[in-house]
Amino acid sequence: MSVSILVGSQWGDEGKGKIVDILSEKYDIVVRFQGGANAGHTIQINDKQTILHLIPSGILRDNVACVIGNGVVIDPNALLDEIKLLEESGISMKGRLFISHNAHLIMPYHKLLDSISEKGKQKIGTTGRGIGPCYIDKYARKGIRIVDLLNKTELEKKIRSNIEEKNNILSKLYDHEKLNVQEIVDEYLKFDEAIDQYITDVPHYLHTEMAKGKSILLEGAQGTLLDIDHGTYPFVTSSSPTSGGACTGSGIPPTKIDSVIGIVKAYTTRVGNGPFPTELFDDDGENLRKWGAEFGATTGRPRRCGWFDAFMLKFSTMINGIDEAAVTKIDVLSGLDEIKVCIGYELNGKSLKSYPTDAKKLEMVKPVYKTLKGWKKDISEINDYNDLPQETKDYLKFISEFCGFRIRFVSVGPKRKQTMEI
Ligand code: GDP
Ligand code: IMO
Ligand code: MG
Repeated sequence: MSVSILVGSQWGDEGKGKIVDILSEKYDIVVRFQGGANAGHTIQINDKQTILHLIPSGILRDNVACVIGNGVVIDPNALLDEIKLLEESGISMKGRLFISHNAHLIMPYHKLLDSISEKGKQKIGTTGRGIGPCYIDKYARKGIRIVDLLNKTELEKKIRSNIEEKNNILSKLYDHEKLNVQEIVDEYLKFDEAIDQYITDVPHYLHTEMAKGKSILLEGAQGTLLDIDHGTYPFVTSSSPTSGGACTGSGIPPTKIDSVIGIVKAYTTRVGNGPFPTELFDDDGENLRKWGAEFGATTGRPRRCGWFDAFMLKFSTMINGIDEAAVTKIDVLSGLDEIKVCIGYELNGKSLKSYPTDAKKLEMVKPVYKTLKGWKKDISEINDYNDLPQETKDYLKFISEFCGFRIRFVSVGPKRKQTMEI
């Protein structure tokens, strides 16, 4: 039996979906523990691409059970769309999908408030999926949870009372028209019928399965630098994508965790606003976007691209306790003569000892680079680590030693077979 946590080590989109799909061959259960439909996890099997937003990336393997844990915020429409899409391609959810009683529901007013707040002074560049406002209600103890769907009278009362409050905010603060209460009540009452069969006491289920010796993979969404506590605040998401969040978001205690796997993209990308010290504005940046097809899996926005930031990764390794890493998209670097890696930051001529999480400071730092030789060869068909060019191995060795993790997987393309285990 083993329990592992898989986390994004940068600003999201590291290739978590692909690696969860590979790993889930060896796990019985995959659990999402935070975030919501702001995530876009891509899995490519042969020529068919599937993008998952809420359902764990283990769903494409018939014998894997998939759990949406209490830490996730669920948009009913996004969930139903995803179930429909998967079922249309022959993937059955029956007896394999488990949704926590305690997960919170994204309501139409959350999405509305998300988009309204993005029009204000502080523009985070959110995905517009209502994530922040939903977590606000959760922590204000006003949220509506999956368990509330089971008591229709109470559910209606809660929805009415929340909409009354939101309508006040919308009309008085934002001069926005009021929401139609009845429409929303009707919509959510119906939602229960569609998902009733999946609603589960998740901690009880997971602990029972662990006692039987079943193995569990906890699938993080977003990435470490988007963490509400440890990320580049305020340019972060509203949950805890770091390994600590996996325990609170699932009900599995820290004493049951065997390993933490970090997904590490061989360069850096970011979607949305906020500091990005190694961002490139030249042809190299444009080429990384083009060669890496760096466009958001959820919003389609072009991703900002830059050099690998090993200084940031050292911080990420420390916060998550990453034991082993999967380095993804290293094939994207193949066209470069030289590759830069950031090994430290300078601020006002002084080198920084630790990673600054103050966004203003991070905007001002100057990255210090080490230049490594490129390999200028197509490596996307290589399936044995020993056959990689020496320069690729040198690059991997350098980042592994600098950041302090063992590299277990190297990914050289989006498909399952474009992965080597070392
Ligand atoms: P996630 O959010 O971490 O699951 O990552 P995304 O799915 O948003 O973005 C990763 C993108 O890179 C997807 O389009 C994947 O199909 C693709 N991808 C994953 N691994 C590799 C790789 O090793 N090489 C290349 N070229 N593409 C990859
Ligand atoms: P996956 O799981 C990349 C970013 C948004 C924005 C910030 C806050 O696919 O790696 P939110 O909608 O969460 O309030 O937006 O976080 N963001 C992501 N960036 N990958 C993601 O998920 C992201 N989910 C949120 O772009 O900057
Ligand atoms: Mg993504």
